[in-house]
Amino acid sequence: MSNKKCVCVHELTADEKEKIKNFGQILDDYKGKPGALIPVLQIAQKMIGYLPGSVLKMISKGLHEPLAKVYGVATFYHFFTMMPRGKHLIRICLGTACYVRGSKEVLAAFKKELGIDVGGTTADRKFTLEIGRCFGACGLAPVIMVNDDTHQRVKPSKIKEILAQYK
Ligand code: FES
Repeated sequence: MSNKKCVCVHELTADEKEKIKNFGQILDDYKGKPGALIPVLQIAQKMIGYLPGSVLKMISKGLHEPLAKVYGVATFYHFFTMMPRGKHLIRICLGTACYVRGSKEVLAAFKKELGIDVGGTTADRKFTLEIGRCFGACGLAPVIMVNDDTHQRVKPSKIKEILAQYK
């Protein structure tokens, strides 16, 4: 069992603090410009990797938009995320073919090993865990993807071996 903790409540890393500082300078250029909210959110996410609460507050203040509106836009569009993402994205296929061949058990093994739930990221920011619905490789079920790599006929007993390739 892993002792890794989820980053549901997370602290900013030194690298993120630096990126936020740089973003603050860019935000200055958008002050007073109409329709700037979405482009500014996109820039922030691209620079920082996600949208921390402190950045949403900066944007609200910088653009003179209510914080509720900034949060509303950030949560409405699926391409915005307020959770930090791991360096490696693990996606477990729960499509029918994979499901009947044991992907549910594979998912449970990843959750246990990483100490996170679906949508979570490990505290060391190495892994984010998500589920998918058919990667088009049903004949090789159960299938998982790590970044752009496909792993086929995955068994719970192989989880550690797979993770070791990305450490
Ligand atoms: S159902 Fe998993 S790859 Fe198709």
